[in-house]
Amino acid sequence: MALQELEKPYSDADLDQRAIAILRENEWGDYTLPTRGLYPYQWNWDSMFVALGFSEFDLNRAWTEVETLFEGQWNNGMAAHIVFRKDDPNYFPGPMVWGSGQNPPTSGCSQPPVAATVVRDLYEKDPENGRDRLKALFPKLMAWHRWFHTKRVISGGAAIAVTHPWESGRDNSPDWDAALENVDPSGVTPYTRRDTGHVDASMRPTNEEYDRYLKLVEYGRDTGWDHAQITREGPFAVADPGVTFILMRADRDLKALAKAIGAEDSAHEIDTWLYHAEESADFLWSEALGAYAARDLRTGAHAVGVSSVAFLSYYAGIAVPRRDAKLQATLRRILDSSTYSIPSFDPEHPRFDSKRYWRGPVWAIINYIVARGLAEYGFEREATRIRMDTRSVIRESGFYEYFDPIVGTGAGGNQFAWTAAIWLAWASPMTD
Ligand code: GLC
Repeated sequence: MALQELEKPYSDADLDQRAIAILRENEWGDYTLPTRGLYPYQWNWDSMFVALGFSEFDLNRAWTEVETLFEGQWNNGMAAHIVFRKDDPNYFPGPMVWGSGQNPPTSGCSQPPVAATVVRDLYEKDPENGRDRLKALFPKLMAWHRWFHTKRVISGGAAIAVTHPWESGRDNSPDWDAALENVDPSGVTPYTRRDTGHVDASMRPTNEEYDRYLKLVEYGRDTGWDHAQITREGPFAVADPGVTFILMRADRDLKALAKAIGAEDSAHEIDTWLYHAEESADFLWSEALGAYAARDLRTGAHAVGVSSVAFLSYYAGIAVPRRDAKLQATLRRILDSSTYSIPSFDPEHPRFDSKRYWRGPVWAIINYIVARGLAEYGFEREATRIRMDTRSVIRESGFYEYFDPIVGTGAGGNQFAWTAAIWLAWASPMTD
């Protein structure tokens, strides 16, 4: 039964059942769609959060979700952001536009690498049964991390660059505004958007942004998807605190997995990546904002405001005493300026937009990883608040793609797989 047919407030038991049903309804064989209609393929980090959700009731299925994602891995190590196994005319830009030359076809960029962290969680739930699957996945995870550390850094820099806003997973965040303005959209091949046929246009990126997104795809395709060249010379390269911190955390988890299977050489290689961790945090720190912030690698400029991923430093294992008070003050200010935390962009900033995707709305997946890091560093009050807010907004509105942080209404797609997964794995009282 659809949630909307039940009476509010929904009971937590109803929500648990509904969340399981959403994962099952979005299953497409051995992988899971983010939601039917709007996103008809396998998305990288969506699938990994979905695996966490599955692991609450079907650990075997959770591993399978990770395994199918890596069917889309490139020879150069990149795990693509979308794996297209069929062509769906209701989605744009599909496999033909990307022209990846891969089999199965994929997009030409990556997405935040949460996989190793999730694989560690799956493995630790049942090490004995997970061991062979971990061993098979481990070299693939290593190759993907190595791809980030070689193809997405610029001459000795340590922070990880995204070369398309889609690679960050935070498509239209104000973090990309200035760098996108420097992308010339003229001459982009005419196209028809499909996303706004599924979801109200006020909740999606603008056409001006879309032209530039497509221009960046065309540029990448024209290089034959030479990822190093795209990072070095392409029209868009921004150091992203989201991907940087998520990868840093994933490196630490991958190292623990390396030790678990006795892969000492790999553990040493990971140490060389982690050696630069603090340096990359330093590069992203903005004293003016009192937070970690994206930085345009072509101009050196910091983003103009604070995004929720600024607080992933704890999740990444970074705590710098001389910055802590300031970062905590920024966090408290942002939590206090919304009803439901964490707004994806600072509500007190003029670029905040409570409904437009990554320019303000709350995303359950980000809440989960930020709160996990805060809890690990003993910031229990903030972590609990974020978790309770996630719980309330899902109780109020259901399993939407994202939520208005001021009034709590759901926005974007509904029956959304990763929101259901995060409910099951973290927000539901069932996990207390
Ligand atoms: C949007 C989001 C991205 C997500 C995808 C599928 O593009 O910005 O993070 O992976 O939708 O849900």
